[in-house]
Amino acid sequence: MRTRRSLLDLDDLGTEEFEEIFARTAAFESKPPERRLAGIACVNIFFEPSTRTFTSFNLAELRLGADVVNLTPTDLSYLHKGETIEDTIVTLSAMGIGVLVVRHPEEGFPKSVAMNFDGHVINAGDGTHAHPTQALLDLYTMLEEFGSLRERVVAIVGDVLHSRVAHSLIAGLRRLGAQTVLVGPEAFVPEEYAGEGVRIERSFDAVLGSADVILLLRIQRERFVSMPISDEEYKRRYCLDEKRLARVRDATIVMHPGPYNRGTELADCVLAFAGWRYAKQVLHGISVRMAVLDLLINGS
Ligand code: NCD
Repeated sequence: MRTRRSLLDLDDLGTEEFEEIFARTAAFESKPPERRLAGIACVNIFFEPSTRTFTSFNLAELRLGADVVNLTPTDLSYLHKGETIEDTIVTLSAMGIGVLVVRHPEEGFPKSVAMNFDGHVINAGDGTHAHPTQALLDLYTMLEEFGSLRERVVAIVGDVLHSRVAHSLIAGLRRLGAQTVLVGPEAFVPEEYAGEGVRIERSFDAVLGSADVILLLRIQRERFVSMPISDEEYKRRYCLDEKRLARVRDATIVMHPGPYNRGTELADCVLAFAGWRYAKQVLHGISVRMAVLDLLINGS
């Protein structure tokens, strides 16, 4: 097993490594780093559409001076010429590639890649399972705001069940001592999520006045067959609209991993709200990914 050299989920990182990543992120944001990945080849393989994560990894790799290659499924001969993915990964290993960044609709795909690859694998999202770098950039954005997340109330609202972002983030929030409130209908937030540091609330209105962070999620329609509640009911109960936004405290921040759907989980007014931190999340995403790449390649 070579998975310890990879970032497949947040469990792969010790608490000191969290701190190390956040410290490096801050350092890279205050002073552009030298070419710390010069001579290292990074290959990004995305089997699912991506705008933010794909661009962000590319920029992070380029800014660290890496050699960057992007592969899309149509470029991969194994899918067309009968080769197994394992043999393709062995080929990429033999080229001396340092880092593979992998996004795939199947849970566990990046892990199976890591078992056949000599370099480092970073999970850029696997099915509904995990999306560790998104969780790290979300945590960094919250920490920048509040210094510490201990006892801070973070409400994650919407389709938690199908969200790899939420799954990684919940683990990260637990590690940093936050109080996580999962908000949504039973079909999107099953009771089993309740546990240490995590409670469930069916009413969005009930958490508006107490949340330090409201993190909205997209309904992952591509990951289930039929919508468990009507769109109208979902919007009525869970859309952050003007009336709900008026009840949010001034110091509350609102976040979203993107892509966001106007009129479903949020109304246009949210995009003009002083506490809307989406652009910050996107910006921090590049530096957090630089920090992760640097930690994996250059160590502590
Ligand atoms: C998310 C993803 O792909 O998991 N987006 C992202 O990476 N920023 C969330 C989503 O698709 O809704």
